[in-house]
Amino acid sequence: MSKKTVRDMDLKEKKVLVRCDFNVPMDEERNITDNTRIIAALPTIQYLLQNNCAVILCSHLGRPKGEFKSEFSLVPVAKELSKLLDKEVIMAKDVIGEDAMAKAANLKLGQVMLLENVRFHREETDNDPEFAKKLASMAEIYINDAFGAAHRAHASTAGVAAYLPAVSGFLIEKELKFLGNALNNPERPFVAILGGAKVSDKIGVIDSLLEKVDTLMIGGGMAYTFFKAQGYGVGNSICELDKLDLAKELMEKAKQKGVKLILPIDTKIGKEFKPDTESKTVAWTEIPDGWEGFDIGEETIKMFTEELKNAKTVVWNGPVGLFEFEQFAIGTNSVAKALAQINATTIIGGGDSAAAVKKAGLEDKMTHISTGGGASLEFLEGKKLPGIECLLDK
Ligand code: 3PG
Repeated sequence: MSKKTVRDMDLKEKKVLVRCDFNVPMDEERNITDNTRIIAALPTIQYLLQNNCAVILCSHLGRPKGEFKSEFSLVPVAKELSKLLDKEVIMAKDVIGEDAMAKAANLKLGQVMLLENVRFHREETDNDPEFAKKLASMAEIYINDAFGAAHRAHASTAGVAAYLPAVSGFLIEKELKFLGNALNNPERPFVAILGGAKVSDKIGVIDSLLEKVDTLMIGGGMAYTFFKAQGYGVGNSICELDKLDLAKELMEKAKQKGVKLILPIDTKIGKEFKPDTESKTVAWTEIPDGWEGFDIGEETIKMFTEELKNAKTVVWNGPVGLFEFEQFAIGTNSVAKALAQINATTIIGGGDSAAAVKKAGLEDKMTHISTGGGASLEFLEGKKLPGIECLLDK
């Protein structure tokens, strides 16, 4: 069922509480190193300002575990947002304390304020009703635009919707449109590329995508569990011995469903887990003892690239190698390049694959890059997201 958005409400001159996902990376000096999530929140904020709303924003940053910690303050976000909006953003010193309540009460139409990190209160992650009610008491309407946190049933992402009319912002609307269309109405062939370290993190998504895709390509640390499950040695490569049967079941399921399951045919291995370690490429069946697989090999890159040329819809979640180390980033960069060149709808799940696309400078070539890591994964698994479920139905 589709959910109401800001478009479905009369917002003129209303006081609104907007949950954003301003959980952005920062360096040691607390400079924001990637403002994508702040930029992604702008369309909703600007729309609210056009409607002459008084805009109260809230978000989490990191995991401060219920305590005030200055390194998790949202002050740098307020500054960045103020620059991007070219407008003052009033920063509250707390979340539901005296300062925030007074500033929210006095907020004028056309003004924007930001509450401190909602996770400075344990009640946020506990989804405490009293805390949610207090947040709700500041505004007349609740707008959730925090797609990246929509898989969390927290007070500011879900609980607050019990006390205010609740709708989505433009970012959540856009994420649901692209991810939802890819899953439910894909132009075929529909190809998924899944990477990442562990099979256990991706079981749900592999299982669910096997019901939907024509081709599933697997790379990353996960692939070695599939190699081992077929009886081959994987040296020191990451491998989940308790998931070998599961890997076999997933291969069997692919066969039954007529899904082409493509595993790497060669792999770039290294001696040690360090950037400049000695490395070489071997066939997937020939990983020697004492070596560790860190990337897909050239033959696999060619095979993946060829396969992608026919695709009409592609969903990619998880790097196919240890892309943080340059010599093992070739596979992941090649996937990004292959996606940039094809004539297909290309959807990048957030987190590491989004970071890899950005690092390769290919963001503009993708149809959609999700702002949600965990959230997009849970969406692809077919799970219901609490931050979406709590919104009013159309
Ligand atoms: C994210 O970065 O994936 C979201 O902001 C959610 O953060 P969390 O995993 O700490 O809930």
